[in-house]
Amino acid sequence: MLNWDEFNEDETSVAEQPAKAAPAPAAKPQPEAASRDEVKESSGSYKVADSDRLARARKSLEELDVAAGLEELEMGAARIQVDDKQMINARADLNQLVPFKYEWAWQKYLDGSANHWMPQEVNMNADIALWKSQDGLTADERRIVERSLGYFSTADSLVANNLVLALYRLITNPECRQYLLRQAFEEAIHTHAYQYCVESLGMDEGEVFNMYREVPSVAAKSAWSLKHTQSLARADFNTGTPETDQELLRNLVAFYCVTEGIFFYCGFSQILSMGRRNKMTGVAEQFQYILRDESMHLNFGVDMINQIKIENPHLWTPEFQDEVTQMILEGTELEIAYARDTMPRGVLGMNAAIMEEYLHFICNRRLAQIGLKEQYPGAQNPFPWMSEIIDLRKEKNFFETRVTEYQVGGALSWD
Ligand SMILES: [Fe+2]
Ligand SMILES: [Fe+2]
Repeated sequence: MLNWDEFNEDETSVAEQPAKAAPAPAAKPQPEAASRDEVKESSGSYKVADSDRLARARKSLEELDVAAGLEELEMGAARIQVDDKQMINARADLNQLVPFKYEWAWQKYLDGSANHWMPQEVNMNADIALWKSQDGLTADERRIVERSLGYFSTADSLVANNLVLALYRLITNPECRQYLLRQAFEEAIHTHAYQYCVESLGMDEGEVFNMYREVPSVAAKSAWSLKHTQSLARADFNTGTPETDQELLRNLVAFYCVTEGIFFYCGFSQILSMGRRNKMTGVAEQFQYILRDESMHLNFGVDMINQIKIENPHLWTPEFQDEVTQMILEGTELEIAYARDTMPRGVLGMNAAIMEEYLHFICNRRLAQIGLKEQYPGAQNPFPWMSEIIDLRKEKNFFETRVTEYQVGGALSWD
C-alpha cells in the first residue's frame, strides 16, 4: 500500500540533488524533515534558469493567442448539452466527459477498470514443466498451443492499432473515447500476456510472432482484419457522408463482431478446453482473463453499432445489411478453416466438425446482436461451458480477490 511517508522521503531526496551539484556558499541548516503541518520554505540553494532563455519563454507566453489555441472550442459558446452529443459527426466539445449521454459506455469503462489484471500474476510453473517434458502433451495439443499463441500474439496488436490509428478520432463522443482508451490498454495487456506465455515456455519468438504472415490459416484472418484498418487509417479519410459513415460501420463490424467476436473463439475454446483437462493451466488462466475482457469489448462494439444505427437509420439500408451479413459469414468461414487447420484430428474432446457448429452458433449470435437475420437457424452451442466462462455475472467470485487487491493497492493511506 502506498503511504505519504514514501512521498516525503522521495521529496527530500529530490530536493537535495541540486544542492549536491551546486553547493550553496552559505548553507543554511536544513530541518531534519518538514512536519506535515509546516510550510516548507525554499532552500535557496538551486541555480536560477538562464536569464535569456527565461526571457524568451516569457515573451513567447505573452504572444500566445489563447483564442487561436481554443479556436475549435468556440469560446463563449453555450455550455454543452446532452443532446449535442452523438456517436459520429458530433460538433459538441469532445474534451468534456460530462454530462453523460451514453451511460452504458461509462459503465463499461468502470467495469473494465474493476477487472484489471496483469499477466505476471499468473503462475506458469506447471506449464513450463509440461511444455518441456517429452510426453506431457500430444503433437496435436502442442500444435494448438503454438497456433493460438501465433495468431493471438499479433491479433491484439492489430486490434489496438485499429483503435488508436483508425477508429478513435472518428468516434465523436467522450464517454465512448474513455472506454476506447481503456480497451486500448487492455489490448496492450493481452499482447503482453501472449508474449509472457511465449517467453515462459521458451518458444521460438520469431516463429510465433511471424505466424500471422507465414501460416496460411492465421495469415488469412489477419489480412481480412487489416484490410478494414487500411481504409480508415488514410489521412484524408473522414466521416460525414453516407458512404464514409458506412465505411466506419464496416470497420466496427470487422473488428468487434468478426475479429474479436469470431476470430478469437476457436483458439479460446481450444485453450480453455485444455485448461479444463488440467493441461497448460497457466496459459489457460491468461486466456480466461482475456476472454472476459474480449467479451466486454465485443458488447461495447455492439452497443456502438446499434447506437449509430439509431442515430443514422439511413445508413442501415437493405443492401448494407446484406453486405454486413456477408462480412460475418466470411469471418465465420475463415474461422472454420482455422479450426480445420488446427485440428486435423479429434483432440481435447473436440474436433473440426463440432467447432464448425459452435462457430455457426456464434455467427448467429453476432448477427442477432446487431439486428440481422440468423444464417444457421437451429445451430446449437456444443460448448456450454464457454458461455459460463464468458458470462461475468455467473461467477461473481472470479475476480473478487484481484479487484480488492487493486482497489486497496491504489488507495493512499492518510494516517
Ligand atoms: Fe485483446
Ligand atoms: Fe479486444
